[in-house]
Amino acid sequence: MAGIFISFEGIDGAGKSSHIEAMAAAFRSQAAASMTKRGVVLTREPGGTALAERLREMILHEPMDPLTEALLVFAARREHIVQVIVPALARGDIVLCDRFTDASFAYQGAGRRFSWEMLSKLEHAAQDLNGLEADFLLNSGSPIDPSTSIGSGAKSRLLQPNLTLLFEVPPAVAAQRLAAARQPDKFESQDVAFFERVSAGYADRVAADPLRFVRINGHQSLDQVRSDVLAALQSHGFLHEVLT
Ligand code: TYD
Repeated sequence: MAGIFISFEGIDGAGKSSHIEAMAAAFRSQAAASMTKRGVVLTREPGGTALAERLREMILHEPMDPLTEALLVFAARREHIVQVIVPALARGDIVLCDRFTDASFAYQGAGRRFSWEMLSKLEHAAQDLNGLEADFLLNSGSPIDPSTSIGSGAKSRLLQPNLTLLFEVPPAVAAQRLAAARQPDKFESQDVAFFERVSAGYADRVAADPLRFVRINGHQSLDQVRSDVLAALQSHGFLHEVLT
C-alpha cells in the first residue's frame, strides 16, 4: 500500500495555510474511523526536517544569488524527501505538504526569472526515486512491491505529488491581505508585479501537467473555499466522507 502525496500551492496571501490544518484533521478523522489507519503527515517546504528548517531561515531572510537560492531550496527538498516524504509514503501515510517543487518554478523561475531549464535539472536530481525506495525498503523490510513507484509522476522515477491544490487569488487581493498581516519575509515583501509573474509560473506548471492539479478559487468566503477543497479531495477518491 503506497501512500498519498498532496501538495498545497499558491501565491503568498492566497489563503492555503488556513485550510491545510483542517484538511489534516479531516484525514485524521477518516483514518480513525476506518480500518486502513493511514498516518497523516503534515509538513512544509522549505523545511520539514531540522536541517531543511535551518535552510528555510536563510532562504526566506537572507539576500543571495539566484542560483544559490535555487540550490538551497532543492537541497532542503532533497533532505525532506529522503528523511520524511519517502519513508511516510512507503508506510502508506498521507503526506500533506505546504508547498513543493511547483513553488520553485513559480518563485525562483517565474518570480525571480531564474532558468526554468536549470530548475528542471534540479527537480530531476532532487526528486529521483531511483535507489531511494530500494534503500528504504531494504532497511525497513516493508512489504511494498518495489516495482511500484511512489507518487503519480508522469516520468515513473520522479517523485511528484499525486495531487496539487493550487489556491488562486488576484495578486492585488493577496497583496492587500499580506499588508494587513505580519512582518513580511523576503518573498512577501516583493511587489505586485512579482506575484503576477509567480501566478503565471504556476499556470505554466498546470499547463504542463494538468491532471495533477485542482485549481481552487481562493477569492471566496473561507467556508466556500473549504468546501471546494473537500470536494476536490473527495472527487479524487482521497477523502471518502466529510467527517469534521
Ligand atoms: P509560506 O509557504 O507562505 O509559509 P508562511 O505562510 O509560513 O510564510 O512561505 C514560504 C515562502 O517560500 C513563500 O514566500 C514561497 C517561498 N518558496 C520559494 O521561493 N521556493 C520554494 O521552492 C518554496 C517551497 C517556497
